[in-house]
Amino acid sequence: MELFNVYPVNPINIVKAKGSLVWDEQGTEYLDLYGGHAVISIGHTHPHYVETLKNQLDKIGFYSNSVLIPIQQQLARQLGEVSGKTDFTLFLCNSGAEANENALKLASFHTGRKKVIAFSKSFHGRTSLAVAATDNPSIVAPINQTDNVVFLPFNDEEALTKAFQDFGEDIAAVIIEGIQGVGGIREASISFLKTIRSLCDTYGAVYIADSVQCGYGRTGSFYSHDYAGVEADVYSMAKGMGNGFPIGGIAIAPKFKASYGLLGTTFGGNHLACAAAVAVLDVIKQDKLIENAENVGNYLIDELKKFDKVLEVRGRGLMIGIELPEELSQVKKELLSINKIFTGEAKPNVIRILPALNINKEIADRFLTAFEERLKA
Ligand SMILES: Cc1ncc(COP(=O)(O)O)c(C=O)c1O
Repeated sequence: MELFNVYPVNPINIVKAKGSLVWDEQGTEYLDLYGGHAVISIGHTHPHYVETLKNQLDKIGFYSNSVLIPIQQQLARQLGEVSGKTDFTLFLCNSGAEANENALKLASFHTGRKKVIAFSKSFHGRTSLAVAATDNPSIVAPINQTDNVVFLPFNDEEALTKAFQDFGEDIAAVIIEGIQGVGGIREASISFLKTIRSLCDTYGAVYIADSVQCGYGRTGSFYSHDYAGVEADVYSMAKGMGNGFPIGGIAIAPKFKASYGLLGTTFGGNHLACAAAVAVLDVIKQDKLIENAENVGNYLIDELKKFDKVLEVRGRGLMIGIELPEELSQVKKELLSINKIFTGEAKPNVIRILPALNINKEIADRFLTAFEERLKA
């Protein structure tokens, strides 16, 4: 049997990884500043993470949500603490799309309404509701198309206010990334997020903060939306949560009431996934990784802004977008092929830097030197 061929892959077989370094089968070393789409939060094969997962696996890897799973409560407690949202509750699932799917579903149950506001260039995942709220028609199958999702321009307070004036009583939720990732590292403005909060309050809609990529401490704040100084009703998360072990979740404000069967999953919240997430939070706290993301991220952003050829540097902390002119469109490819550095991209010409939160200045400098070399070449 062959694989269903949906991914354009780099012909590199990574066989070993440590921290922000990975090695292929020939022993070539690569610097990983992408973490497989922003997933690696505490570094590859972190010893505490590996030990925690091994220990858990020796005890029990999985049982379904039909029995007590105390490690779920431990995870919720730690997550509440590190995110500062101790009064929120946690629903666990397996991926970012699933987290958004559940957030949107919860909003609809809660309000009894159907309409969702999403924004231009948004990416919320590939399951039915999540993809319907994603601004990329090429990945929306006919069966996912719905009039229930209305797309508005990003950061346009006037358009948002008008939409609420026109059909605010029908709006179940507004879903927004604090910093758009796939859309090219574009930050929601503070006043836009405040407007979302206030319109949702006025019209009884739910503010969903998609933190799947921009959350989990990456930007120097646990949830990047919280820079606006207002709280969302639901935060969705996934990527950095398990450092590569599949896990997602939604943090839910106290006003939402749970009832049996309202949401559910077979695999979500299993022992092994929770052990991975607990190990990640242990390391984030012990090693002060949120502060590190802010410090090293600020350093990188400041240094990148000094390159004349760079059109724009966007983002916060360790979620950075470098916009290059068309004639430098080969830089990302060459960083990998020549300098052996993994980065990400956003169309048309944005390099995305999404490294582990524990990179140090030395790794940042290694990237900056290589980047300068590429720009000069
Ligand atoms: C902002 C955002 N939301 C949701 C998702 C979907 O996450 P997953 O691929 O885990 O389903 C992604 C993935 O890139 C994302 O960047």
